[in-house]
Amino acid sequence: TTVEWEAESYDMGGHDTYMHKEIHEQVDAVDRVLRGRIDDRFSTVRLGGLNLDAREARGVRRVKILGCGSAYHTGLIGAQLIEELARIPADAEPASEFRYRNPVVDPDTLYIAVSQSGETYDTLAAVQELKRKGARVLGVVNVVGSAIARETDGGVYVHAGPEVCVVSTKCFTNTAVAFALLALHLGRIRDLSVADGKRIIDGLRKLPEQIAEVLRGEQEIEKLAAEYANAKSMMFVGRVRGYPVAREASLKLKEVSYIHAEAYPASELKHGPLALIEPEVPTVAVLPDDDLLEKNRATLEEIKARSGRILAVAHREQEKADHTIVVPRNEPELDPILMGIPLQLLAYHTALALGRDIDKPRNLAKSVTVE
Ligand code: G6P
Repeated sequence: TTVEWEAESYDMGGHDTYMHKEIHEQVDAVDRVLRGRIDDRFSTVRLGGLNLDAREARGVRRVKILGCGSAYHTGLIGAQLIEELARIPADAEPASEFRYRNPVVDPDTLYIAVSQSGETYDTLAAVQELKRKGARVLGVVNVVGSAIARETDGGVYVHAGPEVCVVSTKCFTNTAVAFALLALHLGRIRDLSVADGKRIIDGLRKLPEQIAEVLRGEQEIEKLAAEYANAKSMMFVGRVRGYPVAREASLKLKEVSYIHAEAYPASELKHGPLALIEPEVPTVAVLPDDDLLEKNRATLEEIKARSGRILAVAHREQEKADHTIVVPRNEPELDPILMGIPLQLLAYHTALALGRDIDKPRNLAKSVTVE
């Protein structure tokens, strides 16, 4: 069985689909996940439900994040944020893989389960397996009082509000922001400086307006979608901060448009997938203006040399790309949050151009409560 939202009971608010509505709700949703949590006096955040005191937080030696689908991808972003801001080794793994491989459960590892619904069976089973082995498990969950929220020792609510479309958009973004808050909190208990704490807080506060700015570019993205909708398959690439964005954008495109898509770290292209590049297989490249920009540009050249078309998501126009979607600059650590948003619009408009059933893609359910 699967859990379905009572879609009819939520107002469409003038939008034709829930996906479109939810993409546009992100400005307010991000505002909501931040609200009441920022502590300017200590350049940190307060997370009331965490249930992890400072002494315990200092004792954490590793972080392991578990989830499925888009939730797993936010976990990839979360792991990078925790490593960057708190300098704790962190990684993410699909919850189902984790629970089936008889995991070594380490008492100094903090486990975090991520889920929009809080009801995904594989994620819940991973939490139960961890609890059975005596681990400390936190939840980063959207639905208050859900099974995963109840089974975890504490956590951070995502406050995205109800998400009806099967494909996750606003909850994805809000979960990434929730991870930024958690990473900042852990960082400021450990070695993150006041100045860096303040820098991240300032960046977080800019997000709602910058999301609004990205959304104002929708018409242009609609035109791009028309241009790429005939693709046979699409490649998504990024490095480090860009890579989870590429993973999620690829998932989103295939879920809602049914165009085959793959995501690779940009550096892995030359180890195989370059063989697929041809004009009918365009590449979406996520390339923030960070210290990897030059490496990323070299990747664009490799693709161009195989006559591949390129759509770049970047902080400034990319000469090597056929098209660039320019997103506003924020703090580099927060780049994945903003850079994902135009690619939600790309998936949406591609699906629309192809006449897909956007809110209920074939074969998918909002929440998978079976094995
Ligand atoms: C299903 C949905 C995905 C979602 C995943 C995890 O597969 O189709 O969009 O990301 O479940 O859901 P959760 O509620 O745990 O975040």
